[in-house]
Amino acid sequence: MSVHQQVKRVTTHTLQQMKRDNAPISMLTAYDYTMTRLLDQAGIDVLLVGDSASNVMAGHETTLPITLDHMIYHASSVVRGAQRALVVVDLPFGSYQANSSEALRSAIRIMKETGAHAVKLEGGKEVAESISRILSAGIPVMGHLGLTPQSIYKFGTYTVRAKEKEEAHKLQEDAVLLQELGCFSVVLEKVPASLASKVADSIEIPVIGIGAGAGVDGQVLVTHDMLGINDGFRPRFLRKYLNLAEDIQAAVKQYIADVQSRGFPNEREQY
Ligand code: KIV
Repeated sequence: MSVHQQVKRVTTHTLQQMKRDNAPISMLTAYDYTMTRLLDQAGIDVLLVGDSASNVMAGHETTLPITLDHMIYHASSVVRGAQRALVVVDLPFGSYQANSSEALRSAIRIMKETGAHAVKLEGGKEVAESISRILSAGIPVMGHLGLTPQSIYKFGTYTVRAKEKEEAHKLQEDAVLLQELGCFSVVLEKVPASLASKVADSIEIPVIGIGAGAGVDGQVLVTHDMLGINDGFRPRFLRKYLNLAEDIQAAVKQYIADVQSRGFPNEREQY
């Protein structure tokens, strides 16, 4: 695409206008350049360089092992591939919990070294000071409440969060607090649909849900899950739009057979 045909970038303001216009926001994860180009050209609004890269890209059981350097590597690749989408990058576990100065330094590294447009971090009141410092440096922040996978060893399971009154109440308070601090949006992961829609109705910033029902302002899924590449993961909230695992394995089996039978390459596939 030439400089003269540049597409208009989605910004944090675009997303807030979309909420006002009641236009649902689409968001998917991305970790590499090639997939990013496909998602971006298809018209996705937001690309999240999620710390789920720890599971999906690196094969770890949790999101805890991924480092800031790893996230910067993935985010730089995504930024190079995205012309339209807003690129949001997860602050990984250990890069913001110790204190607000470290949180700010981590967020600055992401913005400076990747060219991304915003950061996301998990938690409410307990990370309020860090969120404020990051925002005061002019870096847009997306919050993340409900199931927060970086705290998996505190919760013990990946089951639905905030089913009990007390936790639901804290989540509602945290969502309001994130808005008051100045976050441009918040992700709600795996919470009851009725609670999620109540939260979305009670704040002006967009609420993006994953396993949070239809009453929110947008949806996010892990790309490898919705494309059916990661075929072992089947939570109730996941809609699989493709069964790529099967297609890829069939293609690879065919390739192996062609190599073994000397059917590949043929005369037109050589010099
Ligand atoms: O890391 C991630 O992929 C996420 C989404 C599940 C929201 O945080």
